[in-house]
Amino acid sequence: MAVTQAPRVRSDAVPLRTYRTRGRPSAIAGVGVHVPERVVTNHDLVQMGVDTSDQWISERTGIRERRIAEPGTPTFELATHAARAALERSETRPGDLDAILVATSTPDGPFPSVACRVQNELGVPGCCAMDVLAACTGFAYALSLADAYVSSGSMDTVLVIGAEVLSRMVDWTDRGTCVLFADGAGAAVVRPAQRGAGFRSWCLGADGRGYDKITVGDIPKGAYAAGDAAPTIGMKGPDVFKFATDIFIRQAYAVTEAAGVTMDDIDLWVPHQANRRIIEAAAQRIGLPMERVLVNIERFGNTSTATLPLALHDAIEEDRLHAGDTVLVAGFGSGLTWAACLLEWE
Ligand code: ACO
Repeated sequence: MAVTQAPRVRSDAVPLRTYRTRGRPSAIAGVGVHVPERVVTNHDLVQMGVDTSDQWISERTGIRERRIAEPGTPTFELATHAARAALERSETRPGDLDAILVATSTPDGPFPSVACRVQNELGVPGCCAMDVLAACTGFAYALSLADAYVSSGSMDTVLVIGAEVLSRMVDWTDRGTCVLFADGAGAAVVRPAQRGAGFRSWCLGADGRGYDKITVGDIPKGAYAAGDAAPTIGMKGPDVFKFATDIFIRQAYAVTEAAGVTMDDIDLWVPHQANRRIIEAAAQRIGLPMERVLVNIERFGNTSTATLPLALHDAIEEDRLHAGDTVLVAGFGSGLTWAACLLEWE
């Protein structure tokens, strides 16, 4: 058995916290997605007047095109389409849902939650419905809640959605961010595992010292307190790049160790899609060949909470996920936040 080498840790890095899932195993029973019809290529951005080039974007980020919603599209609309697709894929009746958890960085307002709007669209009043706000890490955080609800026996069927209309917060004059972010939604149904497979271990964390690295609106007050009516995304790109690569590597070691497996056991790594170079650098450091890494950023850009379900969906469609496979799912985002899990695919 290959020995898992622990990564070198930067002196200011917080220790990672991990846990092993206890109780009855819970698993992802089905994944569904929905993206806006409008495709915006790198060339289109140049045509729109962004001071960039297809070569720069594709070489520095891996992105070739992204989906952008029509102005005025609410997040709950994309979320509901993805939810319906996931329910169909997992042969789940909406009425069987015990909870709807929506991870989003672009709710349609502070309240009501996107989850309540989705519940209303699905016509299933009664179940728990709430939004989870943890930027791009939101979907993985919400998935961990679903696993906790189901594995504890408190609930049987939980719908987890990641949905974004990030284009309404993009500053189209900032070439350092506008080429990255895009719109889309994905959803997964979590249920008790049929064959005993499912979630094995988790690494969840945050380091609020990095609150100013990826922001929307005024820092340090925050957009609402500052009275900023139309805040846009700001980012310290190179700082985030270093953090992201580092946390991907450390999380991978943390969850594999917690689950009692090694990197060699990982059949597929499904990472948050923020930059192809971040993924490649981390994969190289943890010794995973790119054939065992899912990258689809070229088609969708960074859709924040939606990247993980979009990537899981592609893995299924491309026949890269099989029963019994050991899968590493990992995210990071503003906050700074991070979350990863190790699961055995049902
Ligand atoms: N087109 C052309 N040139 C550009 C562009 C662009 N779109 N963007 C930046 N540049 C230029 C800069 O102006 C700079 O030019 P200069 O050297 O003349 O000053 C040069 O390219 C290098 O700029 P850097 O910012 O150092 O470029 P870098 O190689 O770091 O790439 C990027 C920038 C893509 C943003 C990278 O830093 C990155 O991917 N960072 C991480 C992003 C990320 O993971 N975000 C997660 C968000 S998660 C969430 O919670 C929302």
